[in-house]
Amino acid sequence: MNILITGGAGFIGSHVVRHLVTKYPNYNIFNLDVLTYAGNLENLKDIQSADNYTFLKVDITDEQSINRLFIKHKFTGVIHLAAESHVDRSIKEPLAFAKTNILGTIVLLNAFKSLWQNNWEGKRFYHVSTDEVYGSLGKTGLFTETTSYDPNSPYSASKASSDHFVRAYGETYGMPYVISNCSNNYGPNHFPEKLIPLFINNIINNKALPVYGDGLFTRDWLYVKDHAVAIDLAFHKGENGETYNIGGFNEWTNIDLVKILCTLMDDKLGRKEGTSLKLITYVKDRPGHDLRYAIDASKINKKLGWRPSVTFEEGLKKTIDWYLENKEWLNNITSGDYQEYYNNQYN
Ligand code: NAD
Ligand code: DAU
Repeated sequence: MNILITGGAGFIGSHVVRHLVTKYPNYNIFNLDVLTYAGNLENLKDIQSADNYTFLKVDITDEQSINRLFIKHKFTGVIHLAAESHVDRSIKEPLAFAKTNILGTIVLLNAFKSLWQNNWEGKRFYHVSTDEVYGSLGKTGLFTETTSYDPNSPYSASKASSDHFVRAYGETYGMPYVISNCSNNYGPNHFPEKLIPLFINNIINNKALPVYGDGLFTRDWLYVKDHAVAIDLAFHKGENGETYNIGGFNEWTNIDLVKILCTLMDDKLGRKEGTSLKLITYVKDRPGHDLRYAIDASKINKKLGWRPSVTFEEGLKKTIDWYLENKEWLNNITSGDYQEYYNNQYN
């Protein structure tokens, strides 16, 4: 089986690649990634010489190269994660999100269709999406697989559009597909522009912790390795044409999460309790900021037997340990272009 994983050098993609390369030695796993600022081959150092692993540095919007690779390697399965993924960047540069997330997805769908359209048996296009396509919840309720799409940011609008295209290729051309919509991931290798790794890095460096608005926005957090397991399961055992919501059953307001992170970090760094809390700084809110996301993951739980394996406290401790043990990874990322992004976003 030749499986193509797109975006495998990124945060979630690298965990999916490692999981599949290790678990399925009889699969050939191809990791296709153009290595944007978010892609980092250091994430995959430990498996880069595995016999069943190949890296391809290609842009998913490069139609010619993508078509050539599909013909050459005859991918029977695609697990599509490549995307521009940060909401704040999408507010500043919506077009980049439309290009990669919408056009890039269509290029992949076309290449898969051209290769297999008279022979769909045993093939599958797996699209990794987000709970943000459902928009914002009020204080109660959960997103289910039948919740209407109502995206609010350029990022979530581009992901919603890509989901619709995947579904449309299923309806129109009979392409076998599965979509999963997941909540906020956290864990090792998370780029320090997102809340948890940004705040871990800032606490290490005694820098301000910029909490948007009143800090009462709520997210549902899932340990990234549990997401990788869910993707493996839904890719192999999910039903064609189905969507699976994946979440952590784990809702936190940002401010409560940040306070726990401060306490755990003070402990790990040997600082007096309360030291990092003093770094909390309320800053201007994100435009169009969604109030609350929360996933009802009962379908994947009942149909495929999946549930998260670690508690939030365990996951956070593992994550903090990873960042403290991988300072070189963090330093390599936070030097250079990152400083410019940081100054533009926060100063
Ligand atoms: P990420 O930003 O860490 O990684 C994205 C990867 O895609 C990078 O390696 C980047 O180099 C690559 N990429 C970007 N543009 C590309 C292009 N044009 N061609 C080839 N490769 C390209 O993202 P992530 O957080 O790991 O998210 C992965 C996927 O999961 C995305 O589709 C995202 O929408 C989805 N998702 C993320 C979360 C989350 O909490 N991070 C939650 C639910 C769903
Ligand atoms: O829900 C899934 C989504 O989760 C994924 O699809 C996205 O790719 C991923 O980036 C994430 O989106 P969020 O916008 O929820 O994640 P982020 O880490 O950027 O922000 C989490 C919350 O923290 C959000 O309410 C905004 C707030 N925040 C974020 C940053 C970066 C702050 O208060 N301060 C910050 O500096």
